Amino acid sequence: MMNKIAILFGGKSTEHEVSRVSAASVLRNIDDSKYEIRVVGITREGNWYEYLGSIDNIESGLWEKDNENKKENAQNILFNKEVDVVFPVMHGLYGEDGTIQGLCKLIGIPFVGPGVLSSALCMDKVYTKYVLENFGIKQANYVVVTEYNYNKNKDKLMQEIESKLGYDVFIKPSNSGSSVGITKAHNREELIRGLEEALKYDRKILVEEALNAREIEVAVLGNDEPQGAVPGEIIPAKEFYDFEAKYQDEASKLLIPANLVDEKLQEVKELAIKIYTLLDCQGMSRVDFLMDKETGEVYFNEVNTLPGFTQISMYPKLWEASGKKYPQLIDELIELAIERNNK
Ligand SMILES: Nc1ncnc2c1ncn2[C@@H]1O[C@H](COP(=O)(O)OP(=O)(O)OP(=O)(O)O)[C@@H](O)[C@H]1O
Ligand SMILES: [Mg+2]
Repeated sequence: MMNKIAILFGGKSTEHEVSRVSAASVLRNIDDSKYEIRVVGITREGNWYEYLGSIDNIESGLWEKDNENKKENAQNILFNKEVDVVFPVMHGLYGEDGTIQGLCKLIGIPFVGPGVLSSALCMDKVYTKYVLENFGIKQANYVVVTEYNYNKNKDKLMQEIESKLGYDVFIKPSNSGSSVGITKAHNREELIRGLEEALKYDRKILVEEALNAREIEVAVLGNDEPQGAVPGEIIPAKEFYDFEAKYQDEASKLLIPANLVDEKLQEVKELAIKIYTLLDCQGMSRVDFLMDKETGEVYFNEVNTLPGFTQISMYPKLWEASGKKYPQLIDELIELAIERNNK
């Protein structure tokens, strides 16, 4: 019997649009002779609709106005267990952070990607650091700022950041994604502005020393025996790989494989698999590193448990370069979800 799959897209996250493009790409590439596919769009307000219209309308966002092809209360597709597997093609909060995962687990439907703990952990940059430092994984030095502490001890906090990290620093909301709310500060004035910007998105902020680094990314796939694809490299068009550079700026380039000697490619891949396992990832994740341009030292940066899945995204491209075509990748992700079966 054919597996019934729900593809979820959109949602309340700041990465709503990216999710639409990712989902459109999954829908164009999935082998629809193998699955019965239900497409579910979630609006920015959090309303769920089954969508029966075109993939182009999903990509552009027009689907929301296409009332003829929209059916209300699509959350019932999950609650009534009308599908065997959920593929949440959703990035950021309420998609990648353990919330949808918790819902699927509660209902008892297998889903693509890591489980509740791992999704929530990897979404939170501060807690990811706390966990990995116990295992001696090299990371940029950092200071954690909470909204409460910022309002209470601003001066002390500024001194702590400046003495521990100096400038430049990166300021990141702990729970965010796609560089939203992230800035780089070169002095105290920019630090304060950056913290206030980041506090719009989260009450917990990570301030991190800025490395002069290349960006290396590894696609990992699997449950108990995860495999890594060949590492890739991002050549950002701007000072850092921010939201615009990522999605609007054609000049940012992906280099596959990364411009590294074979031993280094292997070393980074193995480190990515180790981190994947330490963070209890299952199904898939993209593990990102910063590599010091001078020393060649590799620093862990972050894990994306539902990495960008557009036609031009690193995750599917890395697998393609490693011999796994997009439709096959989707098949394997669905098989891994069924194999894990919410355990
Ligand atoms: N410590 C650092 N030193 C140098 N550059 C950094 C540092 N931290 C972040 N960057 C730059 O900022 C970009 C965004 O940072 P980061 O990847 O941590 O955030 P993100 O928004 O969660 O990204 P994603 O969309 O991949 O989830 C990185 O791709 C890199 O260009
Ligand atoms: Mg990133």
